[in-house]
Amino acid sequence: MKVFLKKNIKNRIRNGHPWIYENEIESYEENIKNGNIVDIFNHENFFIGKGYINFNSKIRIRILTRKNESIEKDFFKKRFISALKRRNTKENSFRVIFSEADNLPGLIVDKFDNYIVLEINTLGMERFKSLIIDTIVELFNPKGIFEKSNNSSREKEGLEKFSGWVYKNGPELIPFNLNGLKFFADTKGQKTGSFLDQRINAKSLKNFSKNKVCLDAFCYTGNFGMHMLLYGAKHVTFLDYSQRAIDIVNLIAKENGFKNYETIVGNAFDILKNFDKSSKYFDIVSIDPPSFAKKATNKQSAFKGYKEINLRAMRITKDNGLIATSSCTQVISEEEFEHILFSAGVDSGKLIRVIHRGDQPFDHPYVLNILETKYLKFRLLQIENIKE
Ligand SMILES: C[S@@+](CC[C@H](N)C(=O)[O-])C[C@H]1O[C@@H](n2cnc3c(N)ncnc32)[C@H](O)[C@@H]1O
Repeated sequence: MKVFLKKNIKNRIRNGHPWIYENEIESYEENIKNGNIVDIFNHENFFIGKGYINFNSKIRIRILTRKNESIEKDFFKKRFISALKRRNTKENSFRVIFSEADNLPGLIVDKFDNYIVLEINTLGMERFKSLIIDTIVELFNPKGIFEKSNNSSREKEGLEKFSGWVYKNGPELIPFNLNGLKFFADTKGQKTGSFLDQRINAKSLKNFSKNKVCLDAFCYTGNFGMHMLLYGAKHVTFLDYSQRAIDIVNLIAKENGFKNYETIVGNAFDILKNFDKSSKYFDIVSIDPPSFAKKATNKQSAFKGYKEINLRAMRITKDNGLIATSSCTQVISEEEFEHILFSAGVDSGKLIRVIHRGDQPFDHPYVLNILETKYLKFRLLQIENIKE
């Protein structure tokens, strides 16, 4: 089945971006259905690649390959093997496939020791689910594969949400090791169950945590705070508004033998404000809120949210203390994020010294030709009062 692009197709497509929008297509052969693999040609009948199509989506086609090859099990196996070679890691827990960034749009695969969690976000990829599962079994021989396809983008694709074991069975909380800590990926939790993308940023606190009083706000299952405890923190307060996440924090702390901590279930915006009112100060504050805007049109309210939470964090951080601050809002750039931090610093009378910059780890690579793959920003800030 063939699709022909308009004459002046965007350089974006030529330069390796896999998305083709509805308004970039000149004509379609008959009888093409949602989820079909189509052969893509330019207006001069030159082959561009193969991809899957969905008429329900503005991103009408996502290119899977620029070669004239069949999309079958060998294709997926080759893609997985290339991704593993790129990662070249000895870690047991890491992201195996990061969607567009690994030339498999719509597919995310995380490995948590002996288990695999996969997430499918598009109809085109959904149709290859059993081939993907076969490939994973062949390459990893996992104890179980859990599918956690709960992203709201599935509705636009005409797919229902789904979560459940798709190969063998496993526990509700999948145990795994990370940086010398025991963790659980929650099959009923957020994203794939654990935020592997923050594991290297959390490590950046290694040289700073000893004997420190710390706050892990927006902690989910406690990634940053557990690392601070591992690195010798005197005390960590874990804060999240999800009771389930906090229950797992308690379980993880127990597994690792940590007792010098407390948990709070509540809204971080209010609780940080109350800490400020009651003059409760910390040596290190981590803030890692969820994405504040999905679309560029909502950027202004995201700016407001980031400024407010960073300002509150600055107010409750001791002089010369540290803030580990993250933003996973894709539409906010590195420069915009730093400007927000500067602006919060100005309003709170602080000098903001950036002592470490972090972003996505090697297994969540961003591709310069596909800017949508870049989302995570991380700064370790040292906060100094401007007035002595
Ligand atoms: C990006 S996740 C944090 C990930 C975590 N730092 C990690 O590395 O695993 C954001 C967390 O913020 C929590 N959250 C969202 N809004 C909140 C709020 N207003 N107050 C407290 N927690 C909130 C969510 O429940 C979620 O666990």
